[in-house]
Amino acid sequence: MALAVSLKGITKRFPGVVANDNITFDVEEGTIHALVGENGAGKSTLMKILYGMQQADEGTMTVNGTPVHFRSPTDAIAAGIGMVHQHFQLASNFTVLENIILGMEPGRGTIDFDGAREKLVKLEEAYGLDVDPDAYVSELAVGEKQRIEILKVLYRGARILILDEPTAVLVPQEVTELFENLRHLKAEGVTIIFINHKLDEVLALADRITVIRRGRTIDTVDPNDVTTKDLAELMVGSELPTPSIEARDIPDERVLEVVGLGLKATEGRDRLTDVSFYVRRGEIVGIAGVEGNGQLELLETIIGMRTQTSGTVTLNGENIDGWTTAERLDKGMGYIPEDRHTHGLLLPAPLWENAMLGHQRTPPYGNGFLINPKGAREKTQEIVDKYDVRTVGVEVAALALSGGNQQKLLFGREMEAKPDLLIAAQPTRGIDVGAQAAIWGQLREARSAGMGVLLASADFEELLGLSDRLYVIFEGRLVAELDPKAVTPEVLGKHMTGAEV
Ligand SMILES: Nc1ncnc2c1ncn2[C@@H]1O[C@H](COP(=O)(O)OP(=O)(O)OP(=O)(O)O)[C@@H](O)[C@H]1O
Ligand SMILES: [Mg+2]
Repeated sequence: MALAVSLKGITKRFPGVVANDNITFDVEEGTIHALVGENGAGKSTLMKILYGMQQADEGTMTVNGTPVHFRSPTDAIAAGIGMVHQHFQLASNFTVLENIILGMEPGRGTIDFDGAREKLVKLEEAYGLDVDPDAYVSELAVGEKQRIEILKVLYRGARILILDEPTAVLVPQEVTELFENLRHLKAEGVTIIFINHKLDEVLALADRITVIRRGRTIDTVDPNDVTTKDLAELMVGSELPTPSIEARDIPDERVLEVVGLGLKATEGRDRLTDVSFYVRRGEIVGIAGVEGNGQLELLETIIGMRTQTSGTVTLNGENIDGWTTAERLDKGMGYIPEDRHTHGLLLPAPLWENAMLGHQRTPPYGNGFLINPKGAREKTQEIVDKYDVRTVGVEVAALALSGGNQQKLLFGREMEAKPDLLIAAQPTRGIDVGAQAAIWGQLREARSAGMGVLLASADFEELLGLSDRLYVIFEGRLVAELDPKAVTPEVLGKHMTGAEV
């Protein structure tokens, strides 16, 4: 079969690291090819090179049998390669059609909207990708936005599609839809390369799987010949534990108490209605819910980023309504936000500055007046070692870390502040299976040492494995409290969608 892509001897060095070390990677035309490996293994770097965003130091690339040298994505697009990034690049106050043609408009003259619409509708039909061309992007769900990104790339003539962790941001239903879309694209002859940490998804979708470890190609395997366990072992070179906590008696010392919490959105629809629950010292309390049912708003209200319209929040017995986020962090809360780029990290700043974000008023980072750069650097090195953040040092900018390693730094920062209550939203999103197991272990240990944890996660294995107690949120209300050790994923799914159980 013809090769759509053939990369030979690709090497890419950054200061202090070899991100890609003599990588060889062949992708057959019209197949779905998965790329897996630990955080920092070099997956995104390899794909950025194929898309012309970065240039390899050594090696050759062949696309559809022709040797290529890409100086920029424009060159890659001209060769029929398109890439969908994890962070969507859409203008939300424009329509779908406008977004598709944005950046492609002719330098002068009028835009042929009718022609563009016709072309878009044809593409949607040909590839079974359904979105309303006149809908505003701001009104669309995440899965639909992703479909626009895919359409945008196809509109520019791509026949080779690269997706970097496309399912990380999707809810299960959207993952199913995306996979249907991708199979449809494949049936139309499109070649798809995708990066994913969820190995069961990889096995369900891919025709071939290439594993890379620390910048080197380990193997390319057939999904029929391997299990998720085999893949994980190829990735990390050792066996992995599953999440679990042993049941134990938890004394009724409530670190967090939420009573009658309500939150109205600006347009008036209630985001949260009469939410009451508690978290005790030494327990992990899970919040299950389909994305968009208020879990994000709930966590953001508790950490003080939003102000409730009714109800009270109590931390260690003290009413904290009206406290700022900074005060809450100082007085014993820790926060791992869902979107690490918007809320969690300053990407251009060095790691040691990122490690003290939100904690710069307290030792070893500072004393309330001055910061202590030496103390901050030492502490950051400790976090880097303990949480296995793969970096050449604490002076590098956060943006030079791979996605998963940024998340590990953020996790370590919040854990090391030893909060009484850790609020964790999707703490292992974008994290490889090995690092995920390590984070589960750290959460388990911290809980046994007395930390209270409020955990929102879309990962059922994580949620059911780690939680001592579990609440379900649906349309802004807590609709059920379940025993995570007894409930099945099927029953949990029913509660989450408001179905009769
Ligand atoms: N712009 C950059 N400057 C310096 N180092 C970089 C840069 N981009 C990537 N690196 C380094 O190259 C290595 C590979 O990173 P890459 O982002 O390709 O990993 P990845 O396999 O995509 O990981 P993840 O699963 O966490 O997304 C890492 O050590 C990373 O720190
Ligand atoms: Mg990556």
